[in-house]
Amino acid sequence: MSTYFDHNATTPVAPEVVAAMAEALASTFGNASSVHAYGQRAKAAIDEARASVATLIGAEAAEVVFTAGGTEADNLALRGAAEAMEARGRKRLVTSTIEHEAVLNTCRHLARRGYDWATVPATTDGVVTTAALEAVLTPATAMVSVMHANNEIGTIQPIAELAQLAHARGALLHTDAVQSLGKIPVDVRALGADLLSLSAHKFNGPKGAGALWIKRGTRLLPTVTGGKHERNRRAGTENVPAIVGLGVAARLAGGKLGAEAARVAALRDRLEEGILGGVPGTAVNGARGSRVPNTSNISFDRVEAESLLIALDLEGIAVSTGSACSSGTLEPSHVLRAMGLSTHRTQNSLRFSLGMFSTDAEVDRVVEVLPRLVEKLRGLTQKPVGARG
Ligand SMILES: Cc1ncc(COP(=O)(O)O)c(C=O)c1O
Repeated sequence: MSTYFDHNATTPVAPEVVAAMAEALASTFGNASSVHAYGQRAKAAIDEARASVATLIGAEAAEVVFTAGGTEADNLALRGAAEAMEARGRKRLVTSTIEHEAVLNTCRHLARRGYDWATVPATTDGVVTTAALEAVLTPATAMVSVMHANNEIGTIQPIAELAQLAHARGALLHTDAVQSLGKIPVDVRALGADLLSLSAHKFNGPKGAGALWIKRGTRLLPTVTGGKHERNRRAGTENVPAIVGLGVAARLAGGKLGAEAARVAALRDRLEEGILGGVPGTAVNGARGSRVPNTSNISFDRVEAESLLIALDLEGIAVSTGSACSSGTLEPSHVLRAMGLSTHRTQNSLRFSLGMFSTDAEVDRVVEVLPRLVEKLRGLTQKPVGARG
């Protein structure tokens, strides 16, 4: 039996999405900008998807701009709004330290081009507080960007309060909702944000399809220039099958938020209890109370996460680590590091992320095999039992 517990990396595409995309690929090939019937069919398919996305997030359809995924949506939000706000003398960008690389590296790039970039630290629980944000806001702040839910630990950020504070100082608020959409209710008005990013492949849609919600009246310059597509905010002939897939995934996600989210939360909690109870020297990273229902990030004392990940993979169980192995060096998770966890703990943590097709039997299997794998790996290390790294 194989087990996929890496839904925060990406999700399997729902059969309904596959069917709708195949149909669009085969039949809806017109260019949505064309006046003839073929073009109008493509435009109608895009309009329908836009309405579905808007309904899911409580927005107006005209406020939704399709992009080629979450990374591009984040880029459009940060670069587009930063450039537009520059005319008002605001050149400061503020993000949390636990953002995704799509936000952090975009800000890094903008900082090299003369923008002032400040970061807000997260607590050891992985939460960004209004007090921490207040300390870095200045009259020059153009935009605050804080993610709705964190991809590694799942913690949900108090976006409504952060938005209120940002607005009081004349700054825009962007939230990367890539990891919250389809897991918890996302309502742009309740969040009080100005811009919100989403990505289809995180909620059973296709990769390379996403959207940026831009509140009506928000000034933003396009980052991809060309034709007049997407109301002049994102040029390029629309990828109709991908957009159709995003629309169907959005409709399905809307229906999953109740009973399905509770089912996944119960599975995640059982997995967590099973691991904490069955494997000594384990602890959950991040606030357990305020998390998306599918995510659990657990540290395993005296075990290198990469080794455990590989051992689990050999058992047919797919999980992930926030660490990135580049050029032979193990880079600890920037999220766990930003939360102030010890270097050892940042390197011995695994993320388990469940989804729509996860089952009780899969949870049982992971809980059953983990104690043996951990014991074996601990036996291979040089350190005496009880020693902490
Ligand atoms: C929080 C967050 N933002 C942005 C992205 C990037 O989205 P995409 O893969 O659609 O470019 C991801 C994907 O891992 C993510 O988890």
